[in-house]
Amino acid sequence: QKLKMVKICCLGAGYVGGPTMAVIALKCPSVEVVVVDISVARIAAWNSDQLPIYEPGLDDVVKQCRGRNLFFSTEIEKHIGQADIVFVSVNTPTKTRGLGAGKAADLTYWESAARMIADVAKSDKIVVEKSTVPVKTAEAIEKILIHNSRGINFQILSNPEFLAEGTAIQDLFNPDRVLIGGRETPEGKKAVQVLKQVYANWVSEDRIITTNLWSAELSKLAANAFLAQRISSVNAISALCEATGADVAEVAYSVGKDTRIGPKFLSASVGFGGSCFQKDILSLVYICECNGLPEVASYWKDVIKVNDYQKSRFVNRVVSSMFNTVSEKKIAVLGFAFKKDTGDTRETPAIDVCKGLLGDKAKISIYDPQVSEEQIQRDLALKKFDWDHPVHLQPTSPTAVKQVTVTWDAYEATKGAHGVCILTEWDEFRKLDYVKIYENMQKPAFIFDGRNVIDPQKLREIGFIVFSIGKPLDPWLKDMPAVV
Ligand code: UDX
Ligand code: UDX
Ligand code: ADP
Repeated sequence: QKLKMVKICCLGAGYVGGPTMAVIALKCPSVEVVVVDISVARIAAWNSDQLPIYEPGLDDVVKQCRGRNLFFSTEIEKHIGQADIVFVSVNTPTKTRGLGAGKAADLTYWESAARMIADVAKSDKIVVEKSTVPVKTAEAIEKILIHNSRGINFQILSNPEFLAEGTAIQDLFNPDRVLIGGRETPEGKKAVQVLKQVYANWVSEDRIITTNLWSAELSKLAANAFLAQRISSVNAISALCEATGADVAEVAYSVGKDTRIGPKFLSASVGFGGSCFQKDILSLVYICECNGLPEVASYWKDVIKVNDYQKSRFVNRVVSSMFNTVSEKKIAVLGFAFKKDTGDTRETPAIDVCKGLLGDKAKISIYDPQVSEEQIQRDLALKKFDWDHPVHLQPTSPTAVKQVTVTWDAYEATKGAHGVCILTEWDEFRKLDYVKIYENMQKPAFIFDGRNVIDPQKLREIGFIVFSIGKPLDPWLKDMPAVV
């Protein structure tokens, strides 16, 4: 049966809302998609040649649809009022104060979005949760909508997004699965079908999973917790590899060959970052505690503990191998984004590593191909949980950290440095002229590879003292026992 043409509006033009809606518009030419946001600057950027986020392939998709059936606007109420399906993709930061501070999700933006939708709605709507939210958020939102409905019908669905940054367009074109949760009433089932029809334009039906609301919400938190747990597992093994002389890459390869485990997501690193993993695990931990499950809470909390340990272990390695002090020494940091192919720095391990080195009075010179000086300075000045709150709610113009300089060139960053830390796995770091870098550095010249992008043997031949995560230690480092 043919469904009537739908109008889609997405609230929140961020890393999730922007790319997801662009792909829906591309794949469903007969659907009108409007993305709205309170940030005038963000919307202006989406309407310009300089999109607000760096994502391979995104420019192309936006160019094909913008002005055709994809629009970006700040006229929130007008477009929400007209839409049949409203996706909500606004921030859900961690609470910084009050009940559950440092753990629970702050649903302020979600709640105000729901009240606004109820206020401006003129026709029946399907409201879709797109941002990751704690289990049972849909129920709360449903209550707000229904109690303010003025006779309008609202159906709430949970449709969590599983895209990863840096591969967002690929992930959206060819998702492992699309998950839609809804109420098991006839109206709920109908709403699920409407959203399913949108995705069925390009995703085969056997990959579209439908569940109840709670399963969909919990699946997203669980998936991120499982992924983060794999990284903490391999990172925990990396510490043991350094202690025993095993090589974490060899161990991970052998372990991943077991089809029950699988080869992906087993790269040891300086730690995971990104806007999702820590936040979602904290949220999961809080939900477990609230439901009287302290053992389950502490199991997941340890995934974060190992991640924090991995970052501080790295800093300790740097400091201890350089005669236990980096005071006034220039340390070059290559890579600041939380992973390659993105300019996103939310929760990047580079923040904690840099703060650790600054704590020991190092002078840091940073190069990242996609991150601006302004962004880096703001990240290093912000408090732990402030990063996901809108800029206007953050402390105004934090004072720049004097010990930090930012360059647009890896050679400039490393010139005269005592040590180099590689913190993001950008492809270009594999191809740098390390002989040239070595010649321009202080001696002994140290390199600390937090992403295993360089060949330690080759760099040792040049003359570097090399530390690579989870690899057999350089003789130098063995003589400088780190407090790790
Ligand atoms: C993640 C999930 O992958 C995605 O499904 C979800 O929708 C949002 O959260 P994202 O945070 O964008 O996506 O990137 P991801 O590729 O998962 O990487 C997260 C962090 O883990 C990065 O810091 C990355 O460098 C690190 N990582 C990843 C490792 O340290 N080792 C690995 O093997 C993989
Ligand atoms: C295990 C490893 O699988 C094998 O590779 C290794 O060589 C020896 O240890 P085994 O103990 O014989 O083999 O059986 P396995 O199938 O791994 O099951 C172990 C336990 O886990 C069983 O009690 C099983 O019931 C349980 N299990 C397994 C679950 O509870 N859930 C699962 O999804 C899988
Ligand atoms: P994500 O990674 O989940 O996409 P982002 O922080 O990148 O998160 O994007 C969230 C977007 O939501 C931001 O651009 C922010 O301005 C916007 N936003 C937050 N609250 C509201 C609101 N009440 N109305 C409209 N947009 C909002």
